[in-house]
Amino acid sequence: MPSPAFPFHRPRRLRQSAALRRLVRETRLHADQLVLPLFIRPGRKQRHAVDSMPGVFQLSVDEAVREVSGAVAVGVNAVLLFGIPAKKDDRATGAYAKNGIVQKAVRALKNEFPELLVITDVCLCEYMSHGHCGIVSVTRGQGKVLNDPSLRLLARTAVSHAEAGADIVAPSDMMDGRVGAIRMALDGAGFSDTPIMSYAAKYASAYYGPFRDAADSAPKFGDRRSYQMDAANAEEALREVQLDLEEGADIVMVKPALAYLDILYRVKKTFGYPTAAYAVSGEYSMMKAAAANGWVDERAVIMESLLGMRRAGADIIITYAACDVARWLADG
Ligand code: PBG
Ligand code: ZN
Repeated sequence: MPSPAFPFHRPRRLRQSAALRRLVRETRLHADQLVLPLFIRPGRKQRHAVDSMPGVFQLSVDEAVREVSGAVAVGVNAVLLFGIPAKKDDRATGAYAKNGIVQKAVRALKNEFPELLVITDVCLCEYMSHGHCGIVSVTRGQGKVLNDPSLRLLARTAVSHAEAGADIVAPSDMMDGRVGAIRMALDGAGFSDTPIMSYAAKYASAYYGPFRDAADSAPKFGDRRSYQMDAANAEEALREVQLDLEEGADIVMVKPALAYLDILYRVKKTFGYPTAAYAVSGEYSMMKAAAANGWVDERAVIMESLLGMRRAGADIIITYAACDVARWLADG
């Protein structure tokens, strides 16, 4: 249909008042869509500030329970747990220990808040002395991450999280075939109803810098480019997502978010599955730092960027600012 020429077509007509703008608004943010990541450390009454992420703390289980009661009070009802174990080794034993740090946190949180959605990050890097997401073999001084042997440990980790009471497991390792391996292991252990949210298109990104301080998971040698995706590729992301869906992923994630909104858009458009965007540590830290300097309006830039993720196709947004955002949404 040909569009009428000026002055008949006046987009401004629908922008005359706040009520009118709200009436025709296409995209909305709601606290139900938010997931708050939490870093769990051993001990009691521990609350260690993460310097590069103002407002983010490494919390002992009891402090995490306190933090979550605050989150639930403002309407955030989903958390994503990362563990910082007391000891690391080269088999990531702490990742699948019955009394591992995440397993303890899951039990405590589900006990205190039965309705809370507890999602667990399934990876080995926080538990490996070398900081890689899989098993490493060293030949002639060269370390190599072994894909297939890592799958067994990842599957074991996911099952131990489900046994502790996790509602959703979220593999973030990017080993090939891990969603299938985890699905089979969960089904075999009686957890066929536990959904998998896979970090399906996870890029090798400089935006993870602050997280590696927060989770103490920086690789001791090399980088993650042999298993995480190349920032230059988009078609490959669609193949990664397709494979994860074929292997049984229920929710797929794109990570980071802001620099990859095109990927988010294509993933949602192509597959139509529940899609999550992870607004990663570096995205958070940049906004916090600029806001602390008075260079941008913190609330406005965070809300605008999350809205952009929703517009691009995200159903779910994982953000360190979840509680602030929920508060801002509540007071309009
Ligand atoms: C571990 C993991 C990482 C993040 C989530 N899970 C770091 C990495 O892959 O190096 C990054 C999250 C963030 O930066 O907020 N596999
Ligand atoms: Zn990892």
